[in-house]
Amino acid sequence: SAAVKVGICGLGTVGSGTFNVLQRNADLIRARAQSAVDVVHVGARRDHPDCDLEGVQVSRDIFAVAQDPEIDVLVELIGGTTVARELVELALRNGKHVVTANKALIAEFGNELFALAEANQVVIRYEAAVAGGIPIIKALREGLSGNRIEWLAGIINGTGNFILSEMRDKGRDFADVLAEAQALGYAEADPTFDVEGIDAAHKLVILASLAFGMPLRFSSVYTEGITRLTPQDVEYAEELGYRIKHLGVAKCNGAGVELRVHPTLIPEQRLLANVNGVKNAVLVEGDAVGPTLYYGAGAGAEPTASAVVADIVDLAREISVGQACRVPALGVASACLAEVPI
Ligand code: HSE
Repeated sequence: SAAVKVGICGLGTVGSGTFNVLQRNADLIRARAQSAVDVVHVGARRDHPDCDLEGVQVSRDIFAVAQDPEIDVLVELIGGTTVARELVELALRNGKHVVTANKALIAEFGNELFALAEANQVVIRYEAAVAGGIPIIKALREGLSGNRIEWLAGIINGTGNFILSEMRDKGRDFADVLAEAQALGYAEADPTFDVEGIDAAHKLVILASLAFGMPLRFSSVYTEGITRLTPQDVEYAEELGYRIKHLGVAKCNGAGVELRVHPTLIPEQRLLANVNGVKNAVLVEGDAVGPTLYYGAGAGAEPTASAVVADIVDLAREISVGQACRVPALGVASACLAEVPI
C-alpha cells in the first residue's frame, strides 16, 4: 500500500532518537506496519548534524508541518504546553493523526484534545508520555483489558530515580547528579518538574485515566517531590532495611480514586526497591491477573523513541487498512469516578 507520510516537530533528544530509529529500522518497520513509513517533513528551529535529513523537507516554522497536505501523521516532540498545544490543535484540525511524548500536554489538556481529535475523526497516541520505553499504555489498554484494575504504583520519573540511586550507592550530591541527568538528556527542560514530582504527577493521571476510565485530573494529584530528602534520610532508611523510592500511586478504594506522588519507604527485598538508575517500573494489580510488573528505561533518546515509533507503526498499520480509530479507555467502574481528597 501507499507509504504513510510522517512529519516530525522537534529534533531534540527524543526527536532525533525517533528520526534515527525510524531510519535504522526502516525495513522491519515497513514489514510490521504493512506499509512504508516515510518522514517527509521535519520542523526544527536549528540545524541537526546528528540526523541525516537528506531528501526531507525541513521547516523552521513548525506550524508549516501541521499544515502540510502531504502528511498523515504529525509527531509532536517539542515539549511544553503552549506552542505544543497550538501545534497539536492545528494538526488535528487539519485531519492529521498525532503521536506525542508530551505528558504535560496530555495530562493537562488531554480531555479537550481527545474531543477535538474525535471531532476531526483522527486519533492521538501517547505511549512515550509515560515511563519512556516501557509499553505501559498498551499493557493497560490491551493486555489487561479483561481486568478490573485495583491499583497501580510505580517509579515513573527516571531523573528522580537516578538521583536517589546515585545518592544511595555512591553518596553523591543531589545537585551534581541532577546536572548529570540533564547532560544525559533525561531531565525535563525545566528540571523542577522532575524533582518536585510534577512530571510523575502528569504520568500518574494518564495511567489512572486508562486504568480506571476516568477523565484526566491533574489538579487532583497530591504532589510531593524529592527535594526535601537529605543524605541522612537515605542512610537511615538503609539502616532500617528500606530504600527510599519516589512513587506514583493510583488506587481505587471504593469511595473513589486516590492519586498521589511522593517519596516512600520500601522494604529492600521488594522488586520496586531494586529498580535503580534511570529505570522505571510500574506495578499494576488486576482482579484476574493479580500483580504484574513492567520494567525498563524510563527516559533517554532511543528508549523514548522506541515508544514513539511503536505508536507510528500502529497508526501506519491502521491507516494502511483504513481503520485508524481511538482505542477506548478501560471500562469505567462507577465507584471509581469520585475524587478522594487526601
Ligand atoms: N524527565 C523524564 C524522566 C523524562 O526523567 O522520567 C521521561 O518522561
